[in-house]
Amino acid sequence: MRIVLLGAPGSGKGTQSQRLVEQQHIPQISTGDLLRAAVAQGTPLGVQAKEAMTAGRLVEDSIVLEMIRERLGEPDTGRGFILDGFPRNIAQARALDTLLEQIGQPLDVVVQLKVDYAELSRRIAGRRTCSDCDRVVNLLTTPRESLEQERCPVTGKPHRLFQRPDDNEATVAQRLRVYEQQTSPLIEYYAGQGLLRSIDAQGDVAEVSGRLTAVLPR
Ligand code: AP5
Ligand code: MG
Repeated sequence: MRIVLLGAPGSGKGTQSQRLVEQQHIPQISTGDLLRAAVAQGTPLGVQAKEAMTAGRLVEDSIVLEMIRERLGEPDTGRGFILDGFPRNIAQARALDTLLEQIGQPLDVVVQLKVDYAELSRRIAGRRTCSDCDRVVNLLTTPRESLEQERCPVTGKPHRLFQRPDDNEATVAQRLRVYEQQTSPLIEYYAGQGLLRSIDAQGDVAEVSGRLTAVLPR
């Protein structure tokens, strides 16, 4: 199954992708995660991407498209994939259509995760990531005691949690603006192709996951 998860920053794309990986046995392809890895490694691509990411702007299409082209060429995508955070504007969506047409693997469904603005801000403010195992948690919804008791599968110790550098108030506001201006037109684009399913992505993670599974093609 070839799925795009479409939604604003904090709408749960990463969280729901990880559940889909377990359920559907297909890989998650997150351009945000790929870019953050390139930044951390200090590759030339990472150096170029860093400034835009820190400012909450989109990284240049050519960089992201090259990353996607390479990633879709890997063998684990043969049974399908979940695109998380890509495409992000109409130009990327058109380029994706062309690429998937060339490899004979068109999209099956695009799921829009709908969350209101206040909830997005709340979720982003509470998000923390473990620097060793990449687990994403939320300080506002996960009790502190349970976080302290949980052991990181990599170190065997409590998670070492950090806040993403682009999760500060000013950058989040800019990311939300970019979503409205450049990404939200994709809703109409995919509706026009008959691929769009929209779900209420508020409520607990398992509940949202159930709604998501219910709209996937059988
Ligand atoms: P990216 O990493 O894609 O960030 P984003 O789209 O802003 O989305 P987030 O990762 O912030 O949110 P999410 O929807 O994954 O939510 P999550 O599951 O973590 O992109 C970062 C940057 O990279 C961009 O700004 C841009 O610069 C660049 N970039 C990336 N892709 C690009 C592209 N294609 N083109 C150009 N540039 C690109 O959940 C958020 C929090 O809420 C977590 O703490 C989670 O635990 C919690 N949570 C999740 N679900 C629930 C729930 N149901 N109830 C309560 N809490 C929940
Ligand atoms: Mg994410």
